Amino acid sequence: MRYPTLLSPLNIRNLELRNRVVFPPCVTNMDDHGDQSREWYAERARGGVGLVIRQATRTYLFADPSFAEGLRPMVNAVHAAGAAVAIQLIVADQVGEERVDVSARRGARGVTADEIAAMLEQLAQAAEASKAVGFDAVEPHGAHGFFMNRFFSPLHNKRTDEFGGTLEGRMQFGLRAVAAVREAVGPDFVILYRHTPLESAEGGYGIGDSKAFAPELVKAGVDVLDISPSRTPGGPHAQWAAEIKAAVDVPVIAVGGMNDPAAAEAALRDEKCDLAAIGRGQIADAHWAEKVAAGREGEIIECTECDEKCYGNLRKGIPIGCAENPESGKEHLAASNPV
Ligand SMILES: Cc1cc2nc3c(=O)[nH]c(=O)nc-3n(C[C@H](O)[C@H](O)[C@H](O)COP(=O)(O)O)c2cc1C
Repeated sequence: MRYPTLLSPLNIRNLELRNRVVFPPCVTNMDDHGDQSREWYAERARGGVGLVIRQATRTYLFADPSFAEGLRPMVNAVHAAGAAVAIQLIVADQVGEERVDVSARRGARGVTADEIAAMLEQLAQAAEASKAVGFDAVEPHGAHGFFMNRFFSPLHNKRTDEFGGTLEGRMQFGLRAVAAVREAVGPDFVILYRHTPLESAEGGYGIGDSKAFAPELVKAGVDVLDISPSRTPGGPHAQWAAEIKAAVDVPVIAVGGMNDPAAAEAALRDEKCDLAAIGRGQIADAHWAEKVAAGREGEIIECTECDEKCYGNLRKGIPIGCAENPESGKEHLAASNPV
């Protein structure tokens, strides 16, 4: 076998993943409860992936119980195809219709401590509802410069209360989010956390801060750290996962340009990471994992990082697909017309 580590199973608490390949969260702009959204995820599961993570899903949507219930057919379809399924939960930077931010900025006022408490309560409810409809895990979205990540950033976080100031203060929103989720889902359920470890103009923090954060997240209840450098072209980008892995004892996902199976295998073998997430590579070819397992890597429809119909369509607000593969984004047609 050419990819023994990539294709080996992994146990996390009571969850067994059949291999180390992850489909990371990708907003699809598809109708949440529609046939196409269900088949989009199911097709990646049929294509051999070990863990599917459903796209960033706003926690306030769960206020209506029919929202989580409507995701159940997708969860069942992914399970029927042999994969595990998690959901990424995102706390939006709004209170009702009003924009808020970590600290006041133009167009948004600073969020209050009471509002933070309500947001974390809503996150916990969303996690509980996700568990109830069959998801195997939840992932608070603490990455990519979104609201939760901005609490960690000294450029955005100017707060002087317990949620700001020192590094410890900047960690608090993420840590309390995880603790609230753990309390809601109980001791046996799997919690992932997505974090961006890059020092950048947007974040203003470095890998040292992330390495201090990671073990605290684990103490708060995280089982898997999903380390995403966001939109860094090229790859493989396992080096940041490796830095975090050195600081914790839980499995770490590397993401970003990991779609060359030999490079993914090498990163796993060299213990830079425990799981490899392939995003655009599996948007281009839902059967990436199956082809790798069958020694048919040459048949993989390759992602060229053109970003035309994935990020491009995302920006346009229309359902995503792939410029290299006209079938991507039309999975419900194949499912309803099996030949
Ligand atoms: C269309 C699209 C939507 C995405 N949506 C999300 C999202 O909902 N949550 C998230 O954390 N990352 C999101 N991402 C980032 C991916 O999860 C992944 O980190 C990124 O594509 C890099 O991996 P890759 O090089 O394998 O594509 C999205 C990426 C794409 C292309």
